[in-house]
Amino acid sequence: MSLRARASCILFVALVSLFSSNFSNAFNITKILSNTSDFGSFNNLLTQTGLAETINSRSSLTILALDNGAVGSLQGKSKDEVQRILMNHVILDYNQSILKNLPNKTTTMTTLLQASGVAQQGQGFLNVTIY
Ligand SMILES: *[C@@H]1O[C@H](CO)[C@@H](O)[C@H](O)[C@H]1NC(C)=O
Ligand SMILES: *[C@@H]1O[C@H](CO)[C@@H](O)[C@H](O)[C@H]1NC(C)=O
Ligand SMILES: *[C@@H]1O[C@H](CO)[C@@H](O)[C@H](O)[C@H]1NC(C)=O
Ligand SMILES: *[C@@H]1O[C@H](CO)[C@@H](O)[C@H](O)[C@H]1NC(C)=O
Ligand SMILES: *[C@@H]1O[C@H](CO)[C@@H](O)[C@H](O)[C@H]1NC(C)=O
Repeated sequence: MSLRARASCILFVALVSLFSSNFSNAFNITKILSNTSDFGSFNNLLTQTGLAETINSRSSLTILALDNGAVGSLQGKSKDEVQRILMNHVILDYNQSILKNLPNKTTTMTTLLQASGVAQQGQGFLNVTIY
């Protein structure tokens, strides 16, 4: 089974699923990503935009992490724009069991962008197709 996520700038991504049953100090995304040098630029952006803190405050989510090469496509964009794009890469309601039970092989998932309140109509959702 492979997962295809359609979004504006996803090129090479890794799915990083995080789950914690402990609400205080659930996890430290900065620490987790720093383990993989491929995600160094993405990791820096999460810190710079303040999203690392937002991510850490949640108990479960899945991140479509961009590798260093893909992060290059964000160059020249404003901080606000980068923040919105990164928020679109944080999926709040992804889980394997959803993907196993898709009658139409496609579903829409909610991202942090949608939950943040800054999304305009239709933004912040990710269409996912299994094929
Ligand atoms: C998360 O990990 C980074 C890198 O190890 C560290 O600098 C930072 O202080 C940690 N943040 C929290 C909230 O523990
Ligand atoms: C870092 O990677 C090592 C080896 O893959 C793994 O054992 C360790 O748990 C990882 N640490 C974090 C914080 O993800
Ligand atoms: C997966 O998501 C579905 C729908 O939101 C939910 O009913 C189910 O409990 C979730 N399963 C896990 C293992 O989180
Ligand atoms: C699947 O597709 C059919 C036909 O387009 C539609 O009627 C149905 O509501 C869809 N089911 C789901 C769960 O999206
Ligand atoms: C996602 O799917 C919905 C419903 O099928 C569609 O209206 C929307 O345009 C799609 N969005 C993207 C980004 O493909």
